[in-house]
Amino acid sequence: MHDRSPVCNVDREILMPETRKKIAVIPGDGIGPEVIREAVRVLDRLRETHGVELELTHFDWGADKFLKEGISLPEGALEMLSSEFDAILAGAFGDPRVASNKHAEDILLGMRRGLDLYINLRPVRLLDARLTPLRDRQPADINFVVFRENTEGAYCGAGGFLKKGTPDEIATQEELNTRRGVERIIEAAFAYARKHKRRRVTMADKSNVQRYGGDLWQRVFKEVASRCAGIEANHQYVDAMTMFMVLDPSQYEVIVTNNMFGDILTDLGAALQGGLGLAASGNIHPGRVSLFEPVHGSAPPLAGKNVANPVGSILTAAMMLEYLGFDEASEEVERAVSETIARTETTRDLGGTLSTEEAGAAIREKFEKQNSGVMKSRIQNSGVRSQNE
Ligand code: NAD
Ligand code: IPM
Ligand code: MN
Repeated sequence: MHDRSPVCNVDREILMPETRKKIAVIPGDGIGPEVIREAVRVLDRLRETHGVELELTHFDWGADKFLKEGISLPEGALEMLSSEFDAILAGAFGDPRVASNKHAEDILLGMRRGLDLYINLRPVRLLDARLTPLRDRQPADINFVVFRENTEGAYCGAGGFLKKGTPDEIATQEELNTRRGVERIIEAAFAYARKHKRRRVTMADKSNVQRYGGDLWQRVFKEVASRCAGIEANHQYVDAMTMFMVLDPSQYEVIVTNNMFGDILTDLGAALQGGLGLAASGNIHPGRVSLFEPVHGSAPPLAGKNVANPVGSILTAAMMLEYLGFDEASEEVERAVSETIARTETTRDLGGTLSTEEAGAAIREKFEKQNSGVMKSRIQNSGVRSQNE
């Protein structure tokens, strides 16, 4: 089996594995519905091959609904998600018709902040040497996780204008760093390292310029590290980190950073592993309803063409399965994805010739081969409900 890095550092005892789980599916905009459809088909197939018991409910939140009805994140949505669901599987939000990006901010950032999903966990793992744009790099050289703070930093929405529209205009954009917020994400990174036998945690910041927020991150990092004997605490300025991620990615095991730096570093991380079409992420509050979405956005130029890579969404579904306690099914998905990549049964961004739907089908076919007949007795005929039915 390939070197698999379990991605979720959660209080698993709270989540009873092997029981029926309720999933809210929000495909969103652009390529979101196309890639989420393939992830849902994978989940459907896993019901048969692995007896995974899931109940999926679809929600039509996104640009179309916002433009038609003026509704982005419906009233009461956060309460409903946290009380009725175990996890959320989302596609992407963003549409050229909504220049303000208001609906995406309300829905995506609304869920991240409103559900207090303080860990944005983004694995960067090279599945096949052929996929990286770096020369002479093997899968063992690119295998780390990024812990991106997900509820504050530059995403706090604070700031304002003075004298807007005049030549003297002033715009302020604030960044929020709370002691509690910084401490819990750094602690989560160290806890992950301990649990998964990673020996080094590297924090990226810009504390040479961001005197106050940077100072808080520095102090908390040292404090948390001092409580975590045996794990090396390493620090890099974020600008240098972008360089080292390209020149020497093998030095990274766990990276922890703030919201904005994490956003930027993980697109670079996605490129190192073969592109945005592959990158998965989980927005997690251990023990609570958590949100799983690919790192990529709605990719308007690709939308509706059946060309987008579904692997990012499918690996995201695998992360969700692991979070919910379906470890075996999660590993199965990752194995199947690796196998299709090894055979170039992929979309064009990875050098193949398949459509989105064909690439999804190629992955699902691998389950049948590896599990034919396995656990058929455990088939649960769990229905897919739609909010709009
Ligand atoms: P993007 O991630 O949507 O796409 C950038 C480029 O990456 C695409 O043009 C394409 O070449 C490639 N790409 C992305 N996903 C791919 C896939 N599955 N298969 C193959 N190639 C893929 O980033 P963008 O163009 O900067 O943003 C487009 C919209 O998406 C914007 O509105 C942005 O705000 C939004 N966005 C949303 C999310 C999210 O919902 N989580 C994330 C990023 C961007
Ligand atoms: C991401 C995206 C979002 C972010 C945007 C769409 C708000 O880029 O999930 O990485 O900046 O977090
Ligand atoms: Mn991003």
